[in-house]
Amino acid sequence: MVLHPELEGAAEPLIFGGPAADGQRFAPAQAEIEQIADRIVRRVALRRMPNAQKRLAIVIYNFPPALGTVGTAAYLDVFASLYHLLKALAADGYHVEVPHSVDELRHLLLADGPAHGADAHIADWLSADEYRRLFPAYTEIEPYWGPAPGELWRDQRGIRILGRQFGNVFIGVQPSFGYERDPMRLLLAKDAAPNHAFAAFYTWITHKFRADAVIHLGTHGAMEFMPGKQVGLSARCWPLRLIGPLPNFYVYSVNNPSEAAIAKRRGAATLVSYLVPPVQQAGLYKGLRALRDAIEQYECNPDPALVADLRDRAAQLGIPMESSGDDHADVAGLAHELLRIEQRMIPLGLHVLGQPPAPTELADFLLLYASLQPNGGLPALIARGMGIDYQQLCARLSSDLAAQNQMREIEARGRAAMLAYAEAHDAEAGARAVAAKLADLVSATALRPLWPKLAELRNGLLANDELRNLLHGLRGGFIPPSPSNDAVRNPAVLPTGRNLFALDPYRVPTPVSMQRGEALANELLARLRAEQGAWPQSIAIVLWGTDNLKSDCEGVAQILALIGARPVIDELGNVADVALRPLAELGRPRIDVVVTVSGIFRDLLGNQMRLIDRAAYLAATADEPAEWNFIRAHALAQVAETGISLEEAAIRVFANAPGSYGANVNFLVESGTWESEDQLSDAFLSRKSFVRTANGQWREARGLLEGALRHVQATFQNIDSFEVGLTDIDNYYENLGGIAKSVERIRGNAPPVLVADAISSPGASRIASIETMLRLETRAKLLNPKWHEAMLAHGFAGVREIEARVGHTYGWSATANAVEGWIYDEIAATYALDDAMRERMAALNPSATAGVVRRLLEAAGRGFWAADEATLNRLQEIYQDLEDRLEGITEERSVG
Ligand code: BEZ
Ligand code: MG
Repeated sequence: MVLHPELEGAAEPLIFGGPAADGQRFAPAQAEIEQIADRIVRRVALRRMPNAQKRLAIVIYNFPPALGTVGTAAYLDVFASLYHLLKALAADGYHVEVPHSVDELRHLLLADGPAHGADAHIADWLSADEYRRLFPAYTEIEPYWGPAPGELWRDQRGIRILGRQFGNVFIGVQPSFGYERDPMRLLLAKDAAPNHAFAAFYTWITHKFRADAVIHLGTHGAMEFMPGKQVGLSARCWPLRLIGPLPNFYVYSVNNPSEAAIAKRRGAATLVSYLVPPVQQAGLYKGLRALRDAIEQYECNPDPALVADLRDRAAQLGIPMESSGDDHADVAGLAHELLRIEQRMIPLGLHVLGQPPAPTELADFLLLYASLQPNGGLPALIARGMGIDYQQLCARLSSDLAAQNQMREIEARGRAAMLAYAEAHDAEAGARAVAAKLADLVSATALRPLWPKLAELRNGLLANDELRNLLHGLRGGFIPPSPSNDAVRNPAVLPTGRNLFALDPYRVPTPVSMQRGEALANELLARLRAEQGAWPQSIAIVLWGTDNLKSDCEGVAQILALIGARPVIDELGNVADVALRPLAELGRPRIDVVVTVSGIFRDLLGNQMRLIDRAAYLAATADEPAEWNFIRAHALAQVAETGISLEEAAIRVFANAPGSYGANVNFLVESGTWESEDQLSDAFLSRKSFVRTANGQWREARGLLEGALRHVQATFQNIDSFEVGLTDIDNYYENLGGIAKSVERIRGNAPPVLVADAISSPGASRIASIETMLRLETRAKLLNPKWHEAMLAHGFAGVREIEARVGHTYGWSATANAVEGWIYDEIAATYALDDAMRERMAALNPSATAGVVRRLLEAAGRGFWAADEATLNRLQEIYQDLEDRLEGITEERSVG
């Protein structure tokens, strides 16, 4: 059994001993004890040493390495945050030279890098001799990366340390994993060591710069993902070797409990949480707005001639519109699609450390929260005041224009009330303002239950302890703990600026999450049955830590429900085992599942892996008819064909090898070097084909994974965050796309790819096809001026965010062929072919702007986008021009 102190709140879960080989004594672990002692000495020093003497290293990232990517982190404007941090440090007595502006800071960090072929300014060099002397473990890197100092980030003077010193504060750019230059490494099943430059970077910080503490700025870097044990790391494991004795403050996104736990466990980090921008409604724009207006015209005057116009417009915009023979119903369906886009909740812009959101940014968010309360929350109360049954209204939404208009009006009233609430000078005044606004509709008594929760949200969002607590920690002070979640799911994550914990993994899935998981499993089955005409025999499911930690393992519960199993709770209240539900009670066949878990899930939720494995085993060995138990049917077939044991044939949980993370499909796609789609599935299958045997060891079992995937009729993942969607990060296409591509290869045809959407609108099913979700996501974000203006307000970083979304969209083409042509048309029109927009972006971040155009050309080149000749020629010209200008910058600088 492994305990998880970091999930429960401990800051540095370090091992100092364990049972000796004879099992009789407790044996101290000398090297680890020394490391812990060193770390404590450094902490105490932070408390004693005057700030003016302290030397701080702030680490930012550059992944994938490129000129336009330096300083990216999840929903964080890194340069603006850095700037505020430097000012706060100066005010707190540190010796730090603060540039005059964010732009100057960025310029100083990046500007002359390109002249030397580097992505950022070169602060210093670590010579080969010094590197070998200061980091004797280099010999263990050499088998993987060649003789020290290696080939990466290096010139004749030694290994380059990118970054710049501002007085006693060094801002450094963390090197990346290093396989970008050698993408075929990505196909290997296992990583084995950081590269020399990575090790040199931390060696330099520790021994040359002599930092007293390190701050990792934003979610997330690569240090804590370096290979090594997954639990109980030793002082010889790479992450602890790299961080050594240094206190490690890690500014981490509040909504990411799983990777946050890894940062603590493997990186000895003390977390300081940061807020992500509160979600707001996407709204309508351009053609979508015009379509909405046209629908309103039709409502005033339901002339059949207008319907033809609506059909044309919808077709041009790529919005599906039924032709049922009932025009009115078809228009209502179309209007409902528009409503879903309009109401889609999206985070706008980026967060700046220490800055609370403006009240106007909070209204939609508060309304969302108030709508998620029992029985329909605030909107239901307003509806009742208007004499409307809210549940019926939701049910009529997709087929009734009048119902949609009523819903809009309810929302408008709710939003106005929430805006008044956010703008009031305190929560009490806010409550009075809302009561006044809604006086004609809702009684003060009915509103009362809302106040404590809204006050918690409002006060929590407006108070912001991020900089304050970070400074306190740097003085050796205590950083208080906090849960980790989307703020709308759990307002207790506010105020931010705290050290994140997760949950007790022996208590989940809970009865409540079992109920929800079962409901979702039933929805998924109903949909597949309707589409495929029979029960699906097998579903491949991607499981992540984050959403499971946020939802008390609803994802695990779904899987148990599909199999027809339930948790067994022991006398201590722990989930100790699973049992099969009788078929008669289940009333349907047991569905086979193939579960690929993230490396993070494997590390944090090993007990849940065991529960699923055990449920699958119980099903495979149950004496039940094959047509009622697809796991048994498939496992017996596998036994008959290959002669393996039934136990092996029933293995249904697959993970990365210990100490390795990710499927690497994203890195291959990103690098553009893949030649055939088989390489993408190869990466996925080779990385994800590890299973844990009964005695707790791991072994590679690609044959078992491929055998299980042969029966898969659909692939599925929960998108269980209000804040992180399908195109916000590359990991969705890496995993869900990666498995879809693998099933396609093994079965010879592409499976439907389905997701469960956390943010479904009232009355709508949560299950959606990947194509539907991508349409919605792209319209709400990438193509939406409200979204891109909010990003561009952050300049350099905002352009990089746009480029990243384009890259992730393209990733969905590469893995699941799920991107419709109009999406590329519109991306091209919005960002590349529009001269004003392109020039504006190029002025802010030329490299990322060129990246957008390059990605579009690649999409066309690989046949994902059937652009016409003229468009492609124009894009080529534009790309050439942007590249010439980039080279121009480089040459000018090197001459100067
Ligand atoms: C996880 O929580 O398992 C996860 C988070 C981010 C990317 C991939 C996986
Ligand atoms: Mg990650």
